[in-house]
Amino acid sequence: MSAPNKSYDPVEVEALKPEEIERMRDEALAAFAAAGDLDALAHAKTAHTGGTSPLALANREIGALPPQAKAAAGKLVGQARGVVSKALATRQAELEAERDARVLVEEAVDVTLPYDRVPAGARHPLTTLMERVADVFVSMGYEVAEGPEVEAEWFNFDALNFVPDHPARQMQDTFFVQGTTPEGTATTGDESGVVLRTHTSPVQARTLIDREPPVYVVCPGRVYRTDELDATHTPVFHQIELLAVDEGLTMADLKGTLDHMVQALFGADMKTRLRPNFFPFTEPSAEMDMLCYVCRGESVGNPDRPCRTCGSEGWIELGGCGMVNPKVLIACGVDPEKYSGFAFGFGIERMLMFRHNVEDMRDMVEGDVRFTRPFGMEI
Ligand code: PHE
Repeated sequence: MSAPNKSYDPVEVEALKPEEIERMRDEALAAFAAAGDLDALAHAKTAHTGGTSPLALANREIGALPPQAKAAAGKLVGQARGVVSKALATRQAELEAERDARVLVEEAVDVTLPYDRVPAGARHPLTTLMERVADVFVSMGYEVAEGPEVEAEWFNFDALNFVPDHPARQMQDTFFVQGTTPEGTATTGDESGVVLRTHTSPVQARTLIDREPPVYVVCPGRVYRTDELDATHTPVFHQIELLAVDEGLTMADLKGTLDHMVQALFGADMKTRLRPNFFPFTEPSAEMDMLCYVCRGESVGNPDRPCRTCGSEGWIELGGCGMVNPKVLIACGVDPEKYSGFAFGFGIERMLMFRHNVEDMRDMVEGDVRFTRPFGMEI
């Protein structure tokens, strides 16, 4: 280190000229004022108060001054540095206050929001619709009855008066469950005598075998047919079956029950109509239609008011029905001389489609909550 130089004139030291010190000070003040956030201020702080900042370097020059010049130069630089560090502290406090205010707004937490963000699913509309239909009958005194989905061919067909070569029994319509012969080899297809039920009607036979009339049951359930999945078919679908067996039941009771059901589900002015049809297990049999719940029949012969829901037919086909065939009663041990009964069955998918304008059945089976959620938590 060089010794103090007595002939050293402070005015000659460029960095210690009062205008220079003022400039350094003012530049620092300007930089702090210009710093828009705490990061920028940190940079300005290093640049203007750090070890290599102009004022720090100027301060270092003081040590080399002659003693008589040191005091004045020290005061000059010291004051400037004092002003600068005060301005820095003020700006720091300002920017911190701004940041705190912003964070309070931006990161505010609404403590009244529900804490459970796990999205709730919804019950499937097929389930809720099935329960809704079953409830209509439960409120009339019917009981809910169920049967197995893997069903004996006898219950699915024979007990219901399907002749042995009825086309519905063929493998292109019915899923046969592979079985094992007494010798232990696998049975091929239709030899097994076990099927996935193709309708809920076998529950009729099971109920009649299990219970003594009077019998009033509603049977919701899943059924299977060998259809490809497309917009209007699905190999797994749902039906609701109704069976009433009692003394003196007639077709008028069937009609009245159907009318009550559609009124309960679709409105008080609803009604049904029956068209002759054939089912092996009912005689006479009918196809049942309900009045179109959208146009209420008003689109018929009225080209100004076409109805997409019923194709301007005025009626929507719902399912099959009829008086229980005495052969079924006999097969299930019920005296047809004493008892008569009626039955009907229909598909829930179809009802969901026209009741809620679902256009593609695949939406019902894909399990996407975006389909089920809009139906809400109907219970
Ligand atoms: N089981 C019939 C079907 O699946 C419907 C039906 C039920 C018809 C009861 C008459 C009586 O198509």
